[in-house]
Amino acid sequence: MTLPRRTTILGAGACLPDRVVTNDDLAGVMDTNHEWIEKRSGIHERRYVDNHEGSVPLAEKAARQALEQAGIEAGDLDMVICATLSQDVDFPGNSSLLQERLGIPGTMAFDVHNQCSGFLYSLALADSYVRTGGARHVLVVGSEVHSSGIEFADRSRHVTVLFGDGAGAVVVGPSPDGERGIVAMNLCAQGAYAEKLCTLGPGSRWKPRVRSEQVPEDIFIWPQMEGKFVFRHAVTRMTEAVNEVLEQTGHQADDIDMFLPHQANLRINQLVGMGLNIGEDRMANNIERCGNTTAATIPILLTETLAAGRIKTGDLVCLAAFGAGFTWGAALLRW
Ligand code: UT7
Repeated sequence: MTLPRRTTILGAGACLPDRVVTNDDLAGVMDTNHEWIEKRSGIHERRYVDNHEGSVPLAEKAARQALEQAGIEAGDLDMVICATLSQDVDFPGNSSLLQERLGIPGTMAFDVHNQCSGFLYSLALADSYVRTGGARHVLVVGSEVHSSGIEFADRSRHVTVLFGDGAGAVVVGPSPDGERGIVAMNLCAQGAYAEKLCTLGPGSRWKPRVRSEQVPEDIFIWPQMEGKFVFRHAVTRMTEAVNEVLEQTGHQADDIDMFLPHQANLRINQLVGMGLNIGEDRMANNIERCGNTTAATIPILLTETLAAGRIKTGDLVCLAAFGAGFTWGAALLRW
């Protein structure tokens, strides 16, 4: 068997819930305002699912769109990888639930719990399987429902205003010509800062795991973040990760035709862009409309940027992410 030289993205899809929540809507329930949110993060609005819709239905819609674009039936998939921190239920993972919804029993399925870099880590796993012949077609999905996991109270306003719900997916497979596809990836983690951005419960260090008697007064079940610390690391680490994949492949930042960064804060991306000398003409952002959808940001942004015709065959595309863990990374793809 001849193993493929490269893995390529054959199709991409996205699903954003219909319900738009503006900054003014949030100002109605918390001590915040549009000016602050827009100035500090670039966000104008985000989308929330309606009651009790989890992240798997969003994942399914994004996945079906990616399959259609790839021209592949769900039955042709060898593996499903779901990146999420907001799985539908505590266990099993979203991948089992999604595999069932796609009607592909027996297909290998697992979850990657790696927050904002979950999509890049999942893509790296898919790439390894494809290039070593362990799988031919892999579905990689990032999907999140944050609206049920954030606290609508003043003490959490610096976190809550940032997040939105959504899903993005790609189908990957062997590169037909060996040239197009993933050229290089760089993934990193630094657990020393795990508690700078985290949700502590429920978890196995607590007994009982779900301390329901302390909800909602206790901050325990809500995300906590040391914003400025995370911000500084995001700028430095994403820039480093991009420089690393450029160095690995002998490219310069000027060679990048389209930069698709994780969507945590527009100011973070502008600073990374400044450091790499990549302006708005070679970068895409959608945080203004979507907020931060964690594992879903990059595949949603990729789907939208492809639909807008901003990526052409032969382009050098760079993906980069940073988030809780801390975990981060970058990927370079020849489109
Ligand atoms: O995807 C995962 C990775 N996440 C990130 O990369 C996020 C990184 N961090 C950030 O994006 C920024 O740190 C934030 C957007 C979260 C905050 O921006 P900041 O410029 O770092 O503001 P700050 O937290 O230092 O807060 C400045 C002021 C404070 O008031 P005082 O102490 O100066 O009186 C906050 O209490 O803004 C206040 N504040 C708010 N005011 C209105 C905090 N949140 C809000 C809010 N509305 N939502």
